[in-house]
Amino acid sequence: MDNKAEIDSSRLPRHVAIIMDGNGRWARRRGLPRLMGHRSGVKAVRRVIEEARQMGIAFLTLYAFSTENWNRPREEVEGLMELLYEYLEREFDNLKRQEIRLLVIGEIERMPAGLQERLHRVMEETASFEAMTLNLALSYGGRAELARACRKICDAVAQGRLKCSEITPEIISSNLYTAGQPDPDLVIRTSGEMRLSNFLLFQSAYSEIYVTETLWPDFTPEEFRLAIRDYQRRERRFGKV
Ligand code: FPP
Repeated sequence: MDNKAEIDSSRLPRHVAIIMDGNGRWARRRGLPRLMGHRSGVKAVRRVIEEARQMGIAFLTLYAFSTENWNRPREEVEGLMELLYEYLEREFDNLKRQEIRLLVIGEIERMPAGLQERLHRVMEETASFEAMTLNLALSYGGRAELARACRKICDAVAQGRLKCSEITPEIISSNLYTAGQPDPDLVIRTSGEMRLSNFLLFQSAYSEIYVTETLWPDFTPEEFRLAIRDYQRRERRFGKV
C-alpha cells in the first residue's frame, strides 16, 4: 500500500507526541534481556524522527524516560542512560544535517553528568534550527512539570511581577517545559495500553489519541504514516458542536 499519496500535507498535525512503550515485551518475546529491547527501540526512534522530519511535522515529542522510570532496576536505568549517550554521540551529525533542534523537557539536572553535558552541547548547537523541534522527554512527569510551573508562577507573584488574578491557562502554559510550542494535536501510544502515564497532562487536553498494539521496536515509518492518516480522518471539535 502506498501511504505516501494519502497524507494531506496541508493538514498535518503540527505537534505529534509519542509514548514509546513495549521495549521490554519485545525483548521478552525473543528471550532477550530488556536492554536489547531498548537498543532496538533506539533504531525505531531514528526511523520515526526521519519520517516526521521528511513529512514536515514541526514538533515531535518522544517520551524516552519518565520520573517513574527511576524506580526500575539500577542496571536497566544505567543501560538506558548509556543508550541515550551513545545515541546523541552517533546521531548528532544526522540531527544537524536534518536541521533539527533538540530540546530536553524534564529534569535534565537528574541525568548523569556526562549525559547532561552532551545534551546541553547538542541543544546549544542545534538551537537555531527550524526544520523541526525534537522534544526529548527525560525524567519527565506531567505532575512534576505542573508543580514546577506553580513554583515559577509563585515566584513571579512573590516578586510582584504577576498578580494572582492574572493567572490564566496561557500563563500556566508559558511556564511549562513546552512554553511557546503548540499543544500536541496527536498523541501516539505503542503496545496497546490505554493510558497517558503522566505524559503532557496539561498540553494534551484536546489531543487526539492513537493507540496501536505494535511494540515500539516494531513501530515503522509506515505505521507512523498510518497514525497520521487516521488523525486526518477525525473531526476535531475542541468542545464545540
Ligand atoms: C518503554 O518500554 C520504554 C522506555 C521506558 C524507554 C524508551 C527508550 C527508548 C525507546 C530508547 C532510548 C530513546 C532515545 C530517544 C534514544 P518498556 O520498557 O516499559 O516496555 P514494557 O512495557 O514492554 O516492559
